[in-house]
Amino acid sequence: MATRFVSSFCFVILLCSAAAEALEGGFSVELIHRDSHKSPFYDPSETPFQRAGKAARRSIARVRGLRTNDEGEPSADISRIDADYLINITIGTPPMSIVAIADTGSDLIWTQCPPCQNCFPQVAPWFNPRASSTYAQVDCNSDKCHVFDLTFCSRQGSTCQYSTSYGDRSYTVGNISTDIIGLSTLTGSAVTFPGMVFGCGFNNDGLYGIHTSGVVGLSPGNASLVSQIGGNEGTHFAYCLVPFFSTSKYTSKLTFGSDALLTGPGIVTTPMIIKSKRLYYHITLEGISINGKRFEVSGSSGQGAVTGNMIIDSGTTLTWLPSDFYRQIEPAVSAAIDLPRPKDPIEGYNLCYTSSGVLKGAPSITVHFTGADVVLNWYNAFFQVEENITCFSFVPTDDQPMYGNLAQMDFMISYDLTLGTLSFKPYDCAN
Ligand SMILES: *[C@@H]1O[C@H](CO)[C@@H](O)[C@H](O)[C@H]1NC(C)=O
Ligand SMILES: *[C@@H]1O[C@H](CO)[C@@H](O)[C@H](O)[C@H]1NC(C)=O
Ligand SMILES: *[C@@H]1O[C@H](CO)[C@@H](O)[C@H](O)[C@H]1NC(C)=O
Ligand SMILES: *[C@@H]1O[C@H](CO)[C@@H](O)[C@H](O)[C@H]1NC(C)=O
Repeated sequence: MATRFVSSFCFVILLCSAAAEALEGGFSVELIHRDSHKSPFYDPSETPFQRAGKAARRSIARVRGLRTNDEGEPSADISRIDADYLINITIGTPPMSIVAIADTGSDLIWTQCPPCQNCFPQVAPWFNPRASSTYAQVDCNSDKCHVFDLTFCSRQGSTCQYSTSYGDRSYTVGNISTDIIGLSTLTGSAVTFPGMVFGCGFNNDGLYGIHTSGVVGLSPGNASLVSQIGGNEGTHFAYCLVPFFSTSKYTSKLTFGSDALLTGPGIVTTPMIIKSKRLYYHITLEGISINGKRFEVSGSSGQGAVTGNMIIDSGTTLTWLPSDFYRQIEPAVSAAIDLPRPKDPIEGYNLCYTSSGVLKGAPSITVHFTGADVVLNWYNAFFQVEENITCFSFVPTDDQPMYGNLAQMDFMISYDLTLGTLSFKPYDCAN
């Protein structure tokens, strides 16, 4: 498997011998938490708890933007784009660094490109398509134009163009293009992928923030980074997110190739349901156990959980449960913890306690996905948002339930799009 993975890239990779070394078994790149010291958004004047409070507020805004359509499926234009992780890629020859929002809830890779009709202010230098010797536009009759589904033919000529928006009304319009995309691996080498399809956005506005230059989609859609890198070898990737209060010291990783397939003991696996639009990774939440007592999720007409009822998202902080189900588990959580309850410091939390550090009496929590019982650490479900206040980070929603990134920290989480499975393995991600 490892060898095949390497050799298929050797057809296309320049400097194949250097790349082969990086690809042996796969390779990992850094996922930069938006609030970590490596992030261009880092504000040294904030305390860790202020950052935690901000992350929680961002998550509340993200899920409120995520409305479902009539078929009960979120559509392209509903996810808020200010996701929690960033990724550093290069585009073009010579390579230009782009720090982009890494989003498991969108598919296109895009960056701002001159000549702009309307672009948001960006601190980093722009990717200039004219300055890249390997850049090409895509004809609207070409297959590459249909890798992304929101494309059309330019009014004059036959340039493949796209237009897409996110739930917070952020949007991007531009030319579908191809160029070399490079990733710098955690072992220090660079891997490059020629002919990658991405958007050169000339009309972009919204909540991206001046410190990013675009978005790298990690969804199951054909245009995403993971699908384009996967190619014929089969698409799989994994990530390991370090706990929130360690993000300044340790690196979260995004892994490709056979290293992304888990081995060894302790792995649990659940079917992943990729719906028609291929924008989100859906899994099925069947129930949750609190200190050994199991609560079941039921469908609207009282039967078992609806298949694919939950999205797993790296971009949102909190975990959002169907509100009727949340109301069942909340008393079990509150019964377990005997601590004073201050006023909720962030509108959206329901259970907050006067506590700092390890939460005394935190109940053991197991999340039951179909075929996979995920046993959480206390910090997967409780989040310190102020100096002395720790809140239950599972919260109710009447919109789309989501499994957020706090719940995923210190697990290696492996997405196998070819088999349609999602696997979890407890892991010390800081290691
Ligand atoms: C992105 O990569 C470039 C080139 O390796 C580096 O100079 C820059 O500091 C990186 N940015 C971040 C935010 O890691
Ligand atoms: C987009 O394509 C059109 C038509 O080829 C071209 O005139 C324009 O300069 C391109 N814009 C960017 C930002 O590449
Ligand atoms: C993705 O590509 C495959 C193979 O080319 C195609 O069958 C499928 O319809 C595409 N999916 C979308 C959503 O465009
Ligand atoms: C947090 O608790 C400690 C110990 O009880 C106390 O000294 C400190 O003033 C509290 N901080 C805040 C912001 O309430």
